[in-house]
Amino acid sequence: MKKKLRLGLIGSGFMGKTHVFGFAAAQRVFDLPYEVELACIADVTMAQAEAARAALGFQNATDDWRQMVDDPSLDVIDITAPNALHKDMALAAIAAGKHVYCEKPLAPLSADAREMAEAAERAGIKTQVGFNYLCNPMLSLAREMIAAGELGEIRGYRGLHAEDYMADANGQFTFRHDPAGGGALADIGSHALATAEFLLGPITRVFGDCITVIGSRPDGKGGTRTVETDDVGRAFLRFENGASGSIEGNWIATGRKMQHDFEVYGTKGALSFSQERFNELHFFSTGDAKGRQGFRRIEAGPDHSPYGRFCVAPGHQLGFNDLKAIEVAGYLEAIAGVRPEPFNFRAGLRIQTLIETIQKSSRSGTWLAVDGA
Ligand SMILES: NC(=O)c1ccc[n+]([C@@H]2O[C@H](COP(=O)([O-])OP(=O)(O)OC[C@H]3O[C@@H](n4cnc5c(N)ncnc54)[C@H](O)[C@@H]3O)[C@@H](O)[C@H]2O)c1
Repeated sequence: MKKKLRLGLIGSGFMGKTHVFGFAAAQRVFDLPYEVELACIADVTMAQAEAARAALGFQNATDDWRQMVDDPSLDVIDITAPNALHKDMALAAIAAGKHVYCEKPLAPLSADAREMAEAAERAGIKTQVGFNYLCNPMLSLAREMIAAGELGEIRGYRGLHAEDYMADANGQFTFRHDPAGGGALADIGSHALATAEFLLGPITRVFGDCITVIGSRPDGKGGTRTVETDDVGRAFLRFENGASGSIEGNWIATGRKMQHDFEVYGTKGALSFSQERFNELHFFSTGDAKGRQGFRRIEAGPDHSPYGRFCVAPGHQLGFNDLKAIEVAGYLEAIAGVRPEPFNFRAGLRIQTLIETIQKSSRSGTWLAVDGA
């Protein structure tokens, strides 16, 4: 009999559902130390929470996340609520001795993220931040190839995360526009930064350019609200390994749905990746014969762990929710002490620090060193 781990989930929107799919699949796909019980789901109103309970299979529902967090029968609190609520929810859960899984960005400000990371470390609980794109076996392959020197000396990096869900100027003001920590750089540029450091190691200096393009949006009450956060956040980067590069977070990229892409250039070869076709990694080798050179497509399959856990056949492809299942599996193993936390609050703080340094650099118009790099 596996030990039971009782989960309390806050939020039943896009990510709330993705987390439930992740927990459900992870337990069936991987051999995990726990059986996870979907104990309770919290949302703003009882009607929302109850509808989600019935649809997603939770035992209980509540409109009071604080009460849920204090429930001694729960082991893990999973936060998929809007960004500005992450800090209070996580600190309350940590104070109650629960393990905490929190969606990105960890907190609106790096000072808040630091408080969360330090509180978690003091309490000795296990944490995880939702950076699911890093769970793609093709990103692990890219990292392995870079580390093994297959690309030679790394000279350059280009990364971006571009979508168009905020391209419509008539789209309503949302929590993603919140002056406290919102904006495209925090919302999706955070993924581009996480991938850049996952592949190439620490970023030491940045030069940012963050701009608001759509200056006001309907507030949903018949008026408009001024937008202060960025629609596009770009940065030039210098890495500790000597390479230079750039990233972009852009939520008004008309036509782009999930362009979480990167290219890495080295003396012996290059890699090219696009999240819109995330079961493929393209590799160029300068060692190929002249007249035969070109990017070759490596397709994901059982040779790229843990793909084979999901499907025995290569080329049949993993999906977005499968990446969450891989993230969940790593976190559950970390809770059991079998491995380190894959991307804990300290790692989430690192991303907040990068975001804030880029924003500061944009305001000052100067290159800035990144703390702790
Ligand atoms: N890792 C990823 O790929 C990814 C993708 C999308 C969103 N996110 C992150 O997930 C979080 C949620 O985003 P989303 O797209 O799911 O938003 P959403 O609006 O779809 O869902 C948010 C949910 O939280 C609920 N909520 C709001 N206030 C609450 C409160 N006080 N108590 C309980 N529930 C409350 C809402 O009613 C809703 O059900 C954000 O932090 C976002 O950055 C991560």
